[in-house]
Amino acid sequence: MPFVIAVPKELAMGEQRVATVPEVVQKLTKSGHEVRIEHGGGKSAYYSDDLFIAAGAKIVQTRIDLFTGARIVLGVQPLTVAEIDLLAEGTIVIGFMNATRNLEAVARMRDRKITAFALELVPRITRAQSMDALSSQATAGGYVAAILGAANSPKFLPMLTTAAGTIRPATVLILGAGVAGLMAIATAKRLGAVVEAYDVRRAAGEQVRSLGARFLELEINAEGKGGYARELTPEEREKEQEMVTAAVARADIVITTASIPGRKAPLLITKGTVATMRPGAVIVDLAAESGGNCELTQPGRTIQEHGVTILGPLNLPAQIPFHSSQMYAKNLHAFLMLLFDKEGGLVREFTDEILAASLLVHAGEVRHGPTRDLLSERKT
Ligand code: NAI
Repeated sequence: MPFVIAVPKELAMGEQRVATVPEVVQKLTKSGHEVRIEHGGGKSAYYSDDLFIAAGAKIVQTRIDLFTGARIVLGVQPLTVAEIDLLAEGTIVIGFMNATRNLEAVARMRDRKITAFALELVPRITRAQSMDALSSQATAGGYVAAILGAANSPKFLPMLTTAAGTIRPATVLILGAGVAGLMAIATAKRLGAVVEAYDVRRAAGEQVRSLGARFLELEINAEGKGGYARELTPEEREKEQEMVTAAVARADIVITTASIPGRKAPLLITKGTVATMRPGAVIVDLAAESGGNCELTQPGRTIQEHGVTILGPLNLPAQIPFHSSQMYAKNLHAFLMLLFDKEGGLVREFTDEILAASLLVHAGEVRHGPTRDLLSERKT
């Protein structure tokens, strides 16, 4: 049974991505589904309406036309309350939901009996890799962070031997070697820098070294639940701080990506440490959105302190929207394939491990425990 799948134009500030691309539209329309794209929906990611039409999509001019009769809505950023009000009961919405920071919209989806799947809740298991949008977007973010670091540095990154003399390679330090950090390492290496990296998870060491970077060792293993980092004890934090401070002081570019799910980002670079850095050094703080790994970071702004340029970029994947949209669209397509049964209808029960874990709201209930708890706290 074919469905109407609707893709709105993303309206959030600075958002340039789109939830689907012509290649994915072609696959969906070949299976008989109707894909509707809001006029200009892919423009900022360089997917024109014409490309979508050639792939079999219908372009619609208004939100009402887009959502009327739609069974599934695909988005990048969460829908607003006003958008949710345009959806019919039972509509399935898939995208990033940022649920714990977006409680009003979650409550509205619950009350309007919308079914919402949050891609950030997809478990990090091998079978879910093709739909792991956190990873695909972190890959894009890590790449852009390294490029931004290089573009803001007054130095060359590679070693150069020229008639005008020899130039020593720049040192790039990556703090937090998860998906974004590893991509930043690989990119800085390709640009010719000497790269050092640190992560509280010892397992990250092997990955760092396999990319040709030096891993800074500390006698701590802070691997917590599900492969994520746990919070450090005060003594552990002090040791970490000493080692990180020395590495920061010798770096030309520092890219920080350290985060702990659901908590404020750990503070890795204090004001005092910034004062010890080389003039012209650059910090790119990827954790700006969740409080920053550097004490001086200002989210969404670039500032200068003690001759150090500190960038607090928000939504870096949106800065390479062509490819980040392409990867995101493929993640969404893989996710949709779980929702369809063999006959092309929708599965009746969301019992599959991936569907069950990412189901945020369904049939008038918030299914994600932490979000449900926050909503009931808000009421009391
Ligand atoms: P994230 O964005 O939550 O955090 C980034 C990095 O910061 C992590 O590597 C974390 O260990 C590190 N970090 C936290 N506190 C720190 C501190 N105080 N100092 C230095 N570093 C600190 O992580 P991301 O990139 O989402 O990956 C989290 C985990 O999930 C990793 O173990 C990764 O390998 C795993 N993963 C597994 C996948 C799979 O099996 N399908 C797919 C993607 C990730």
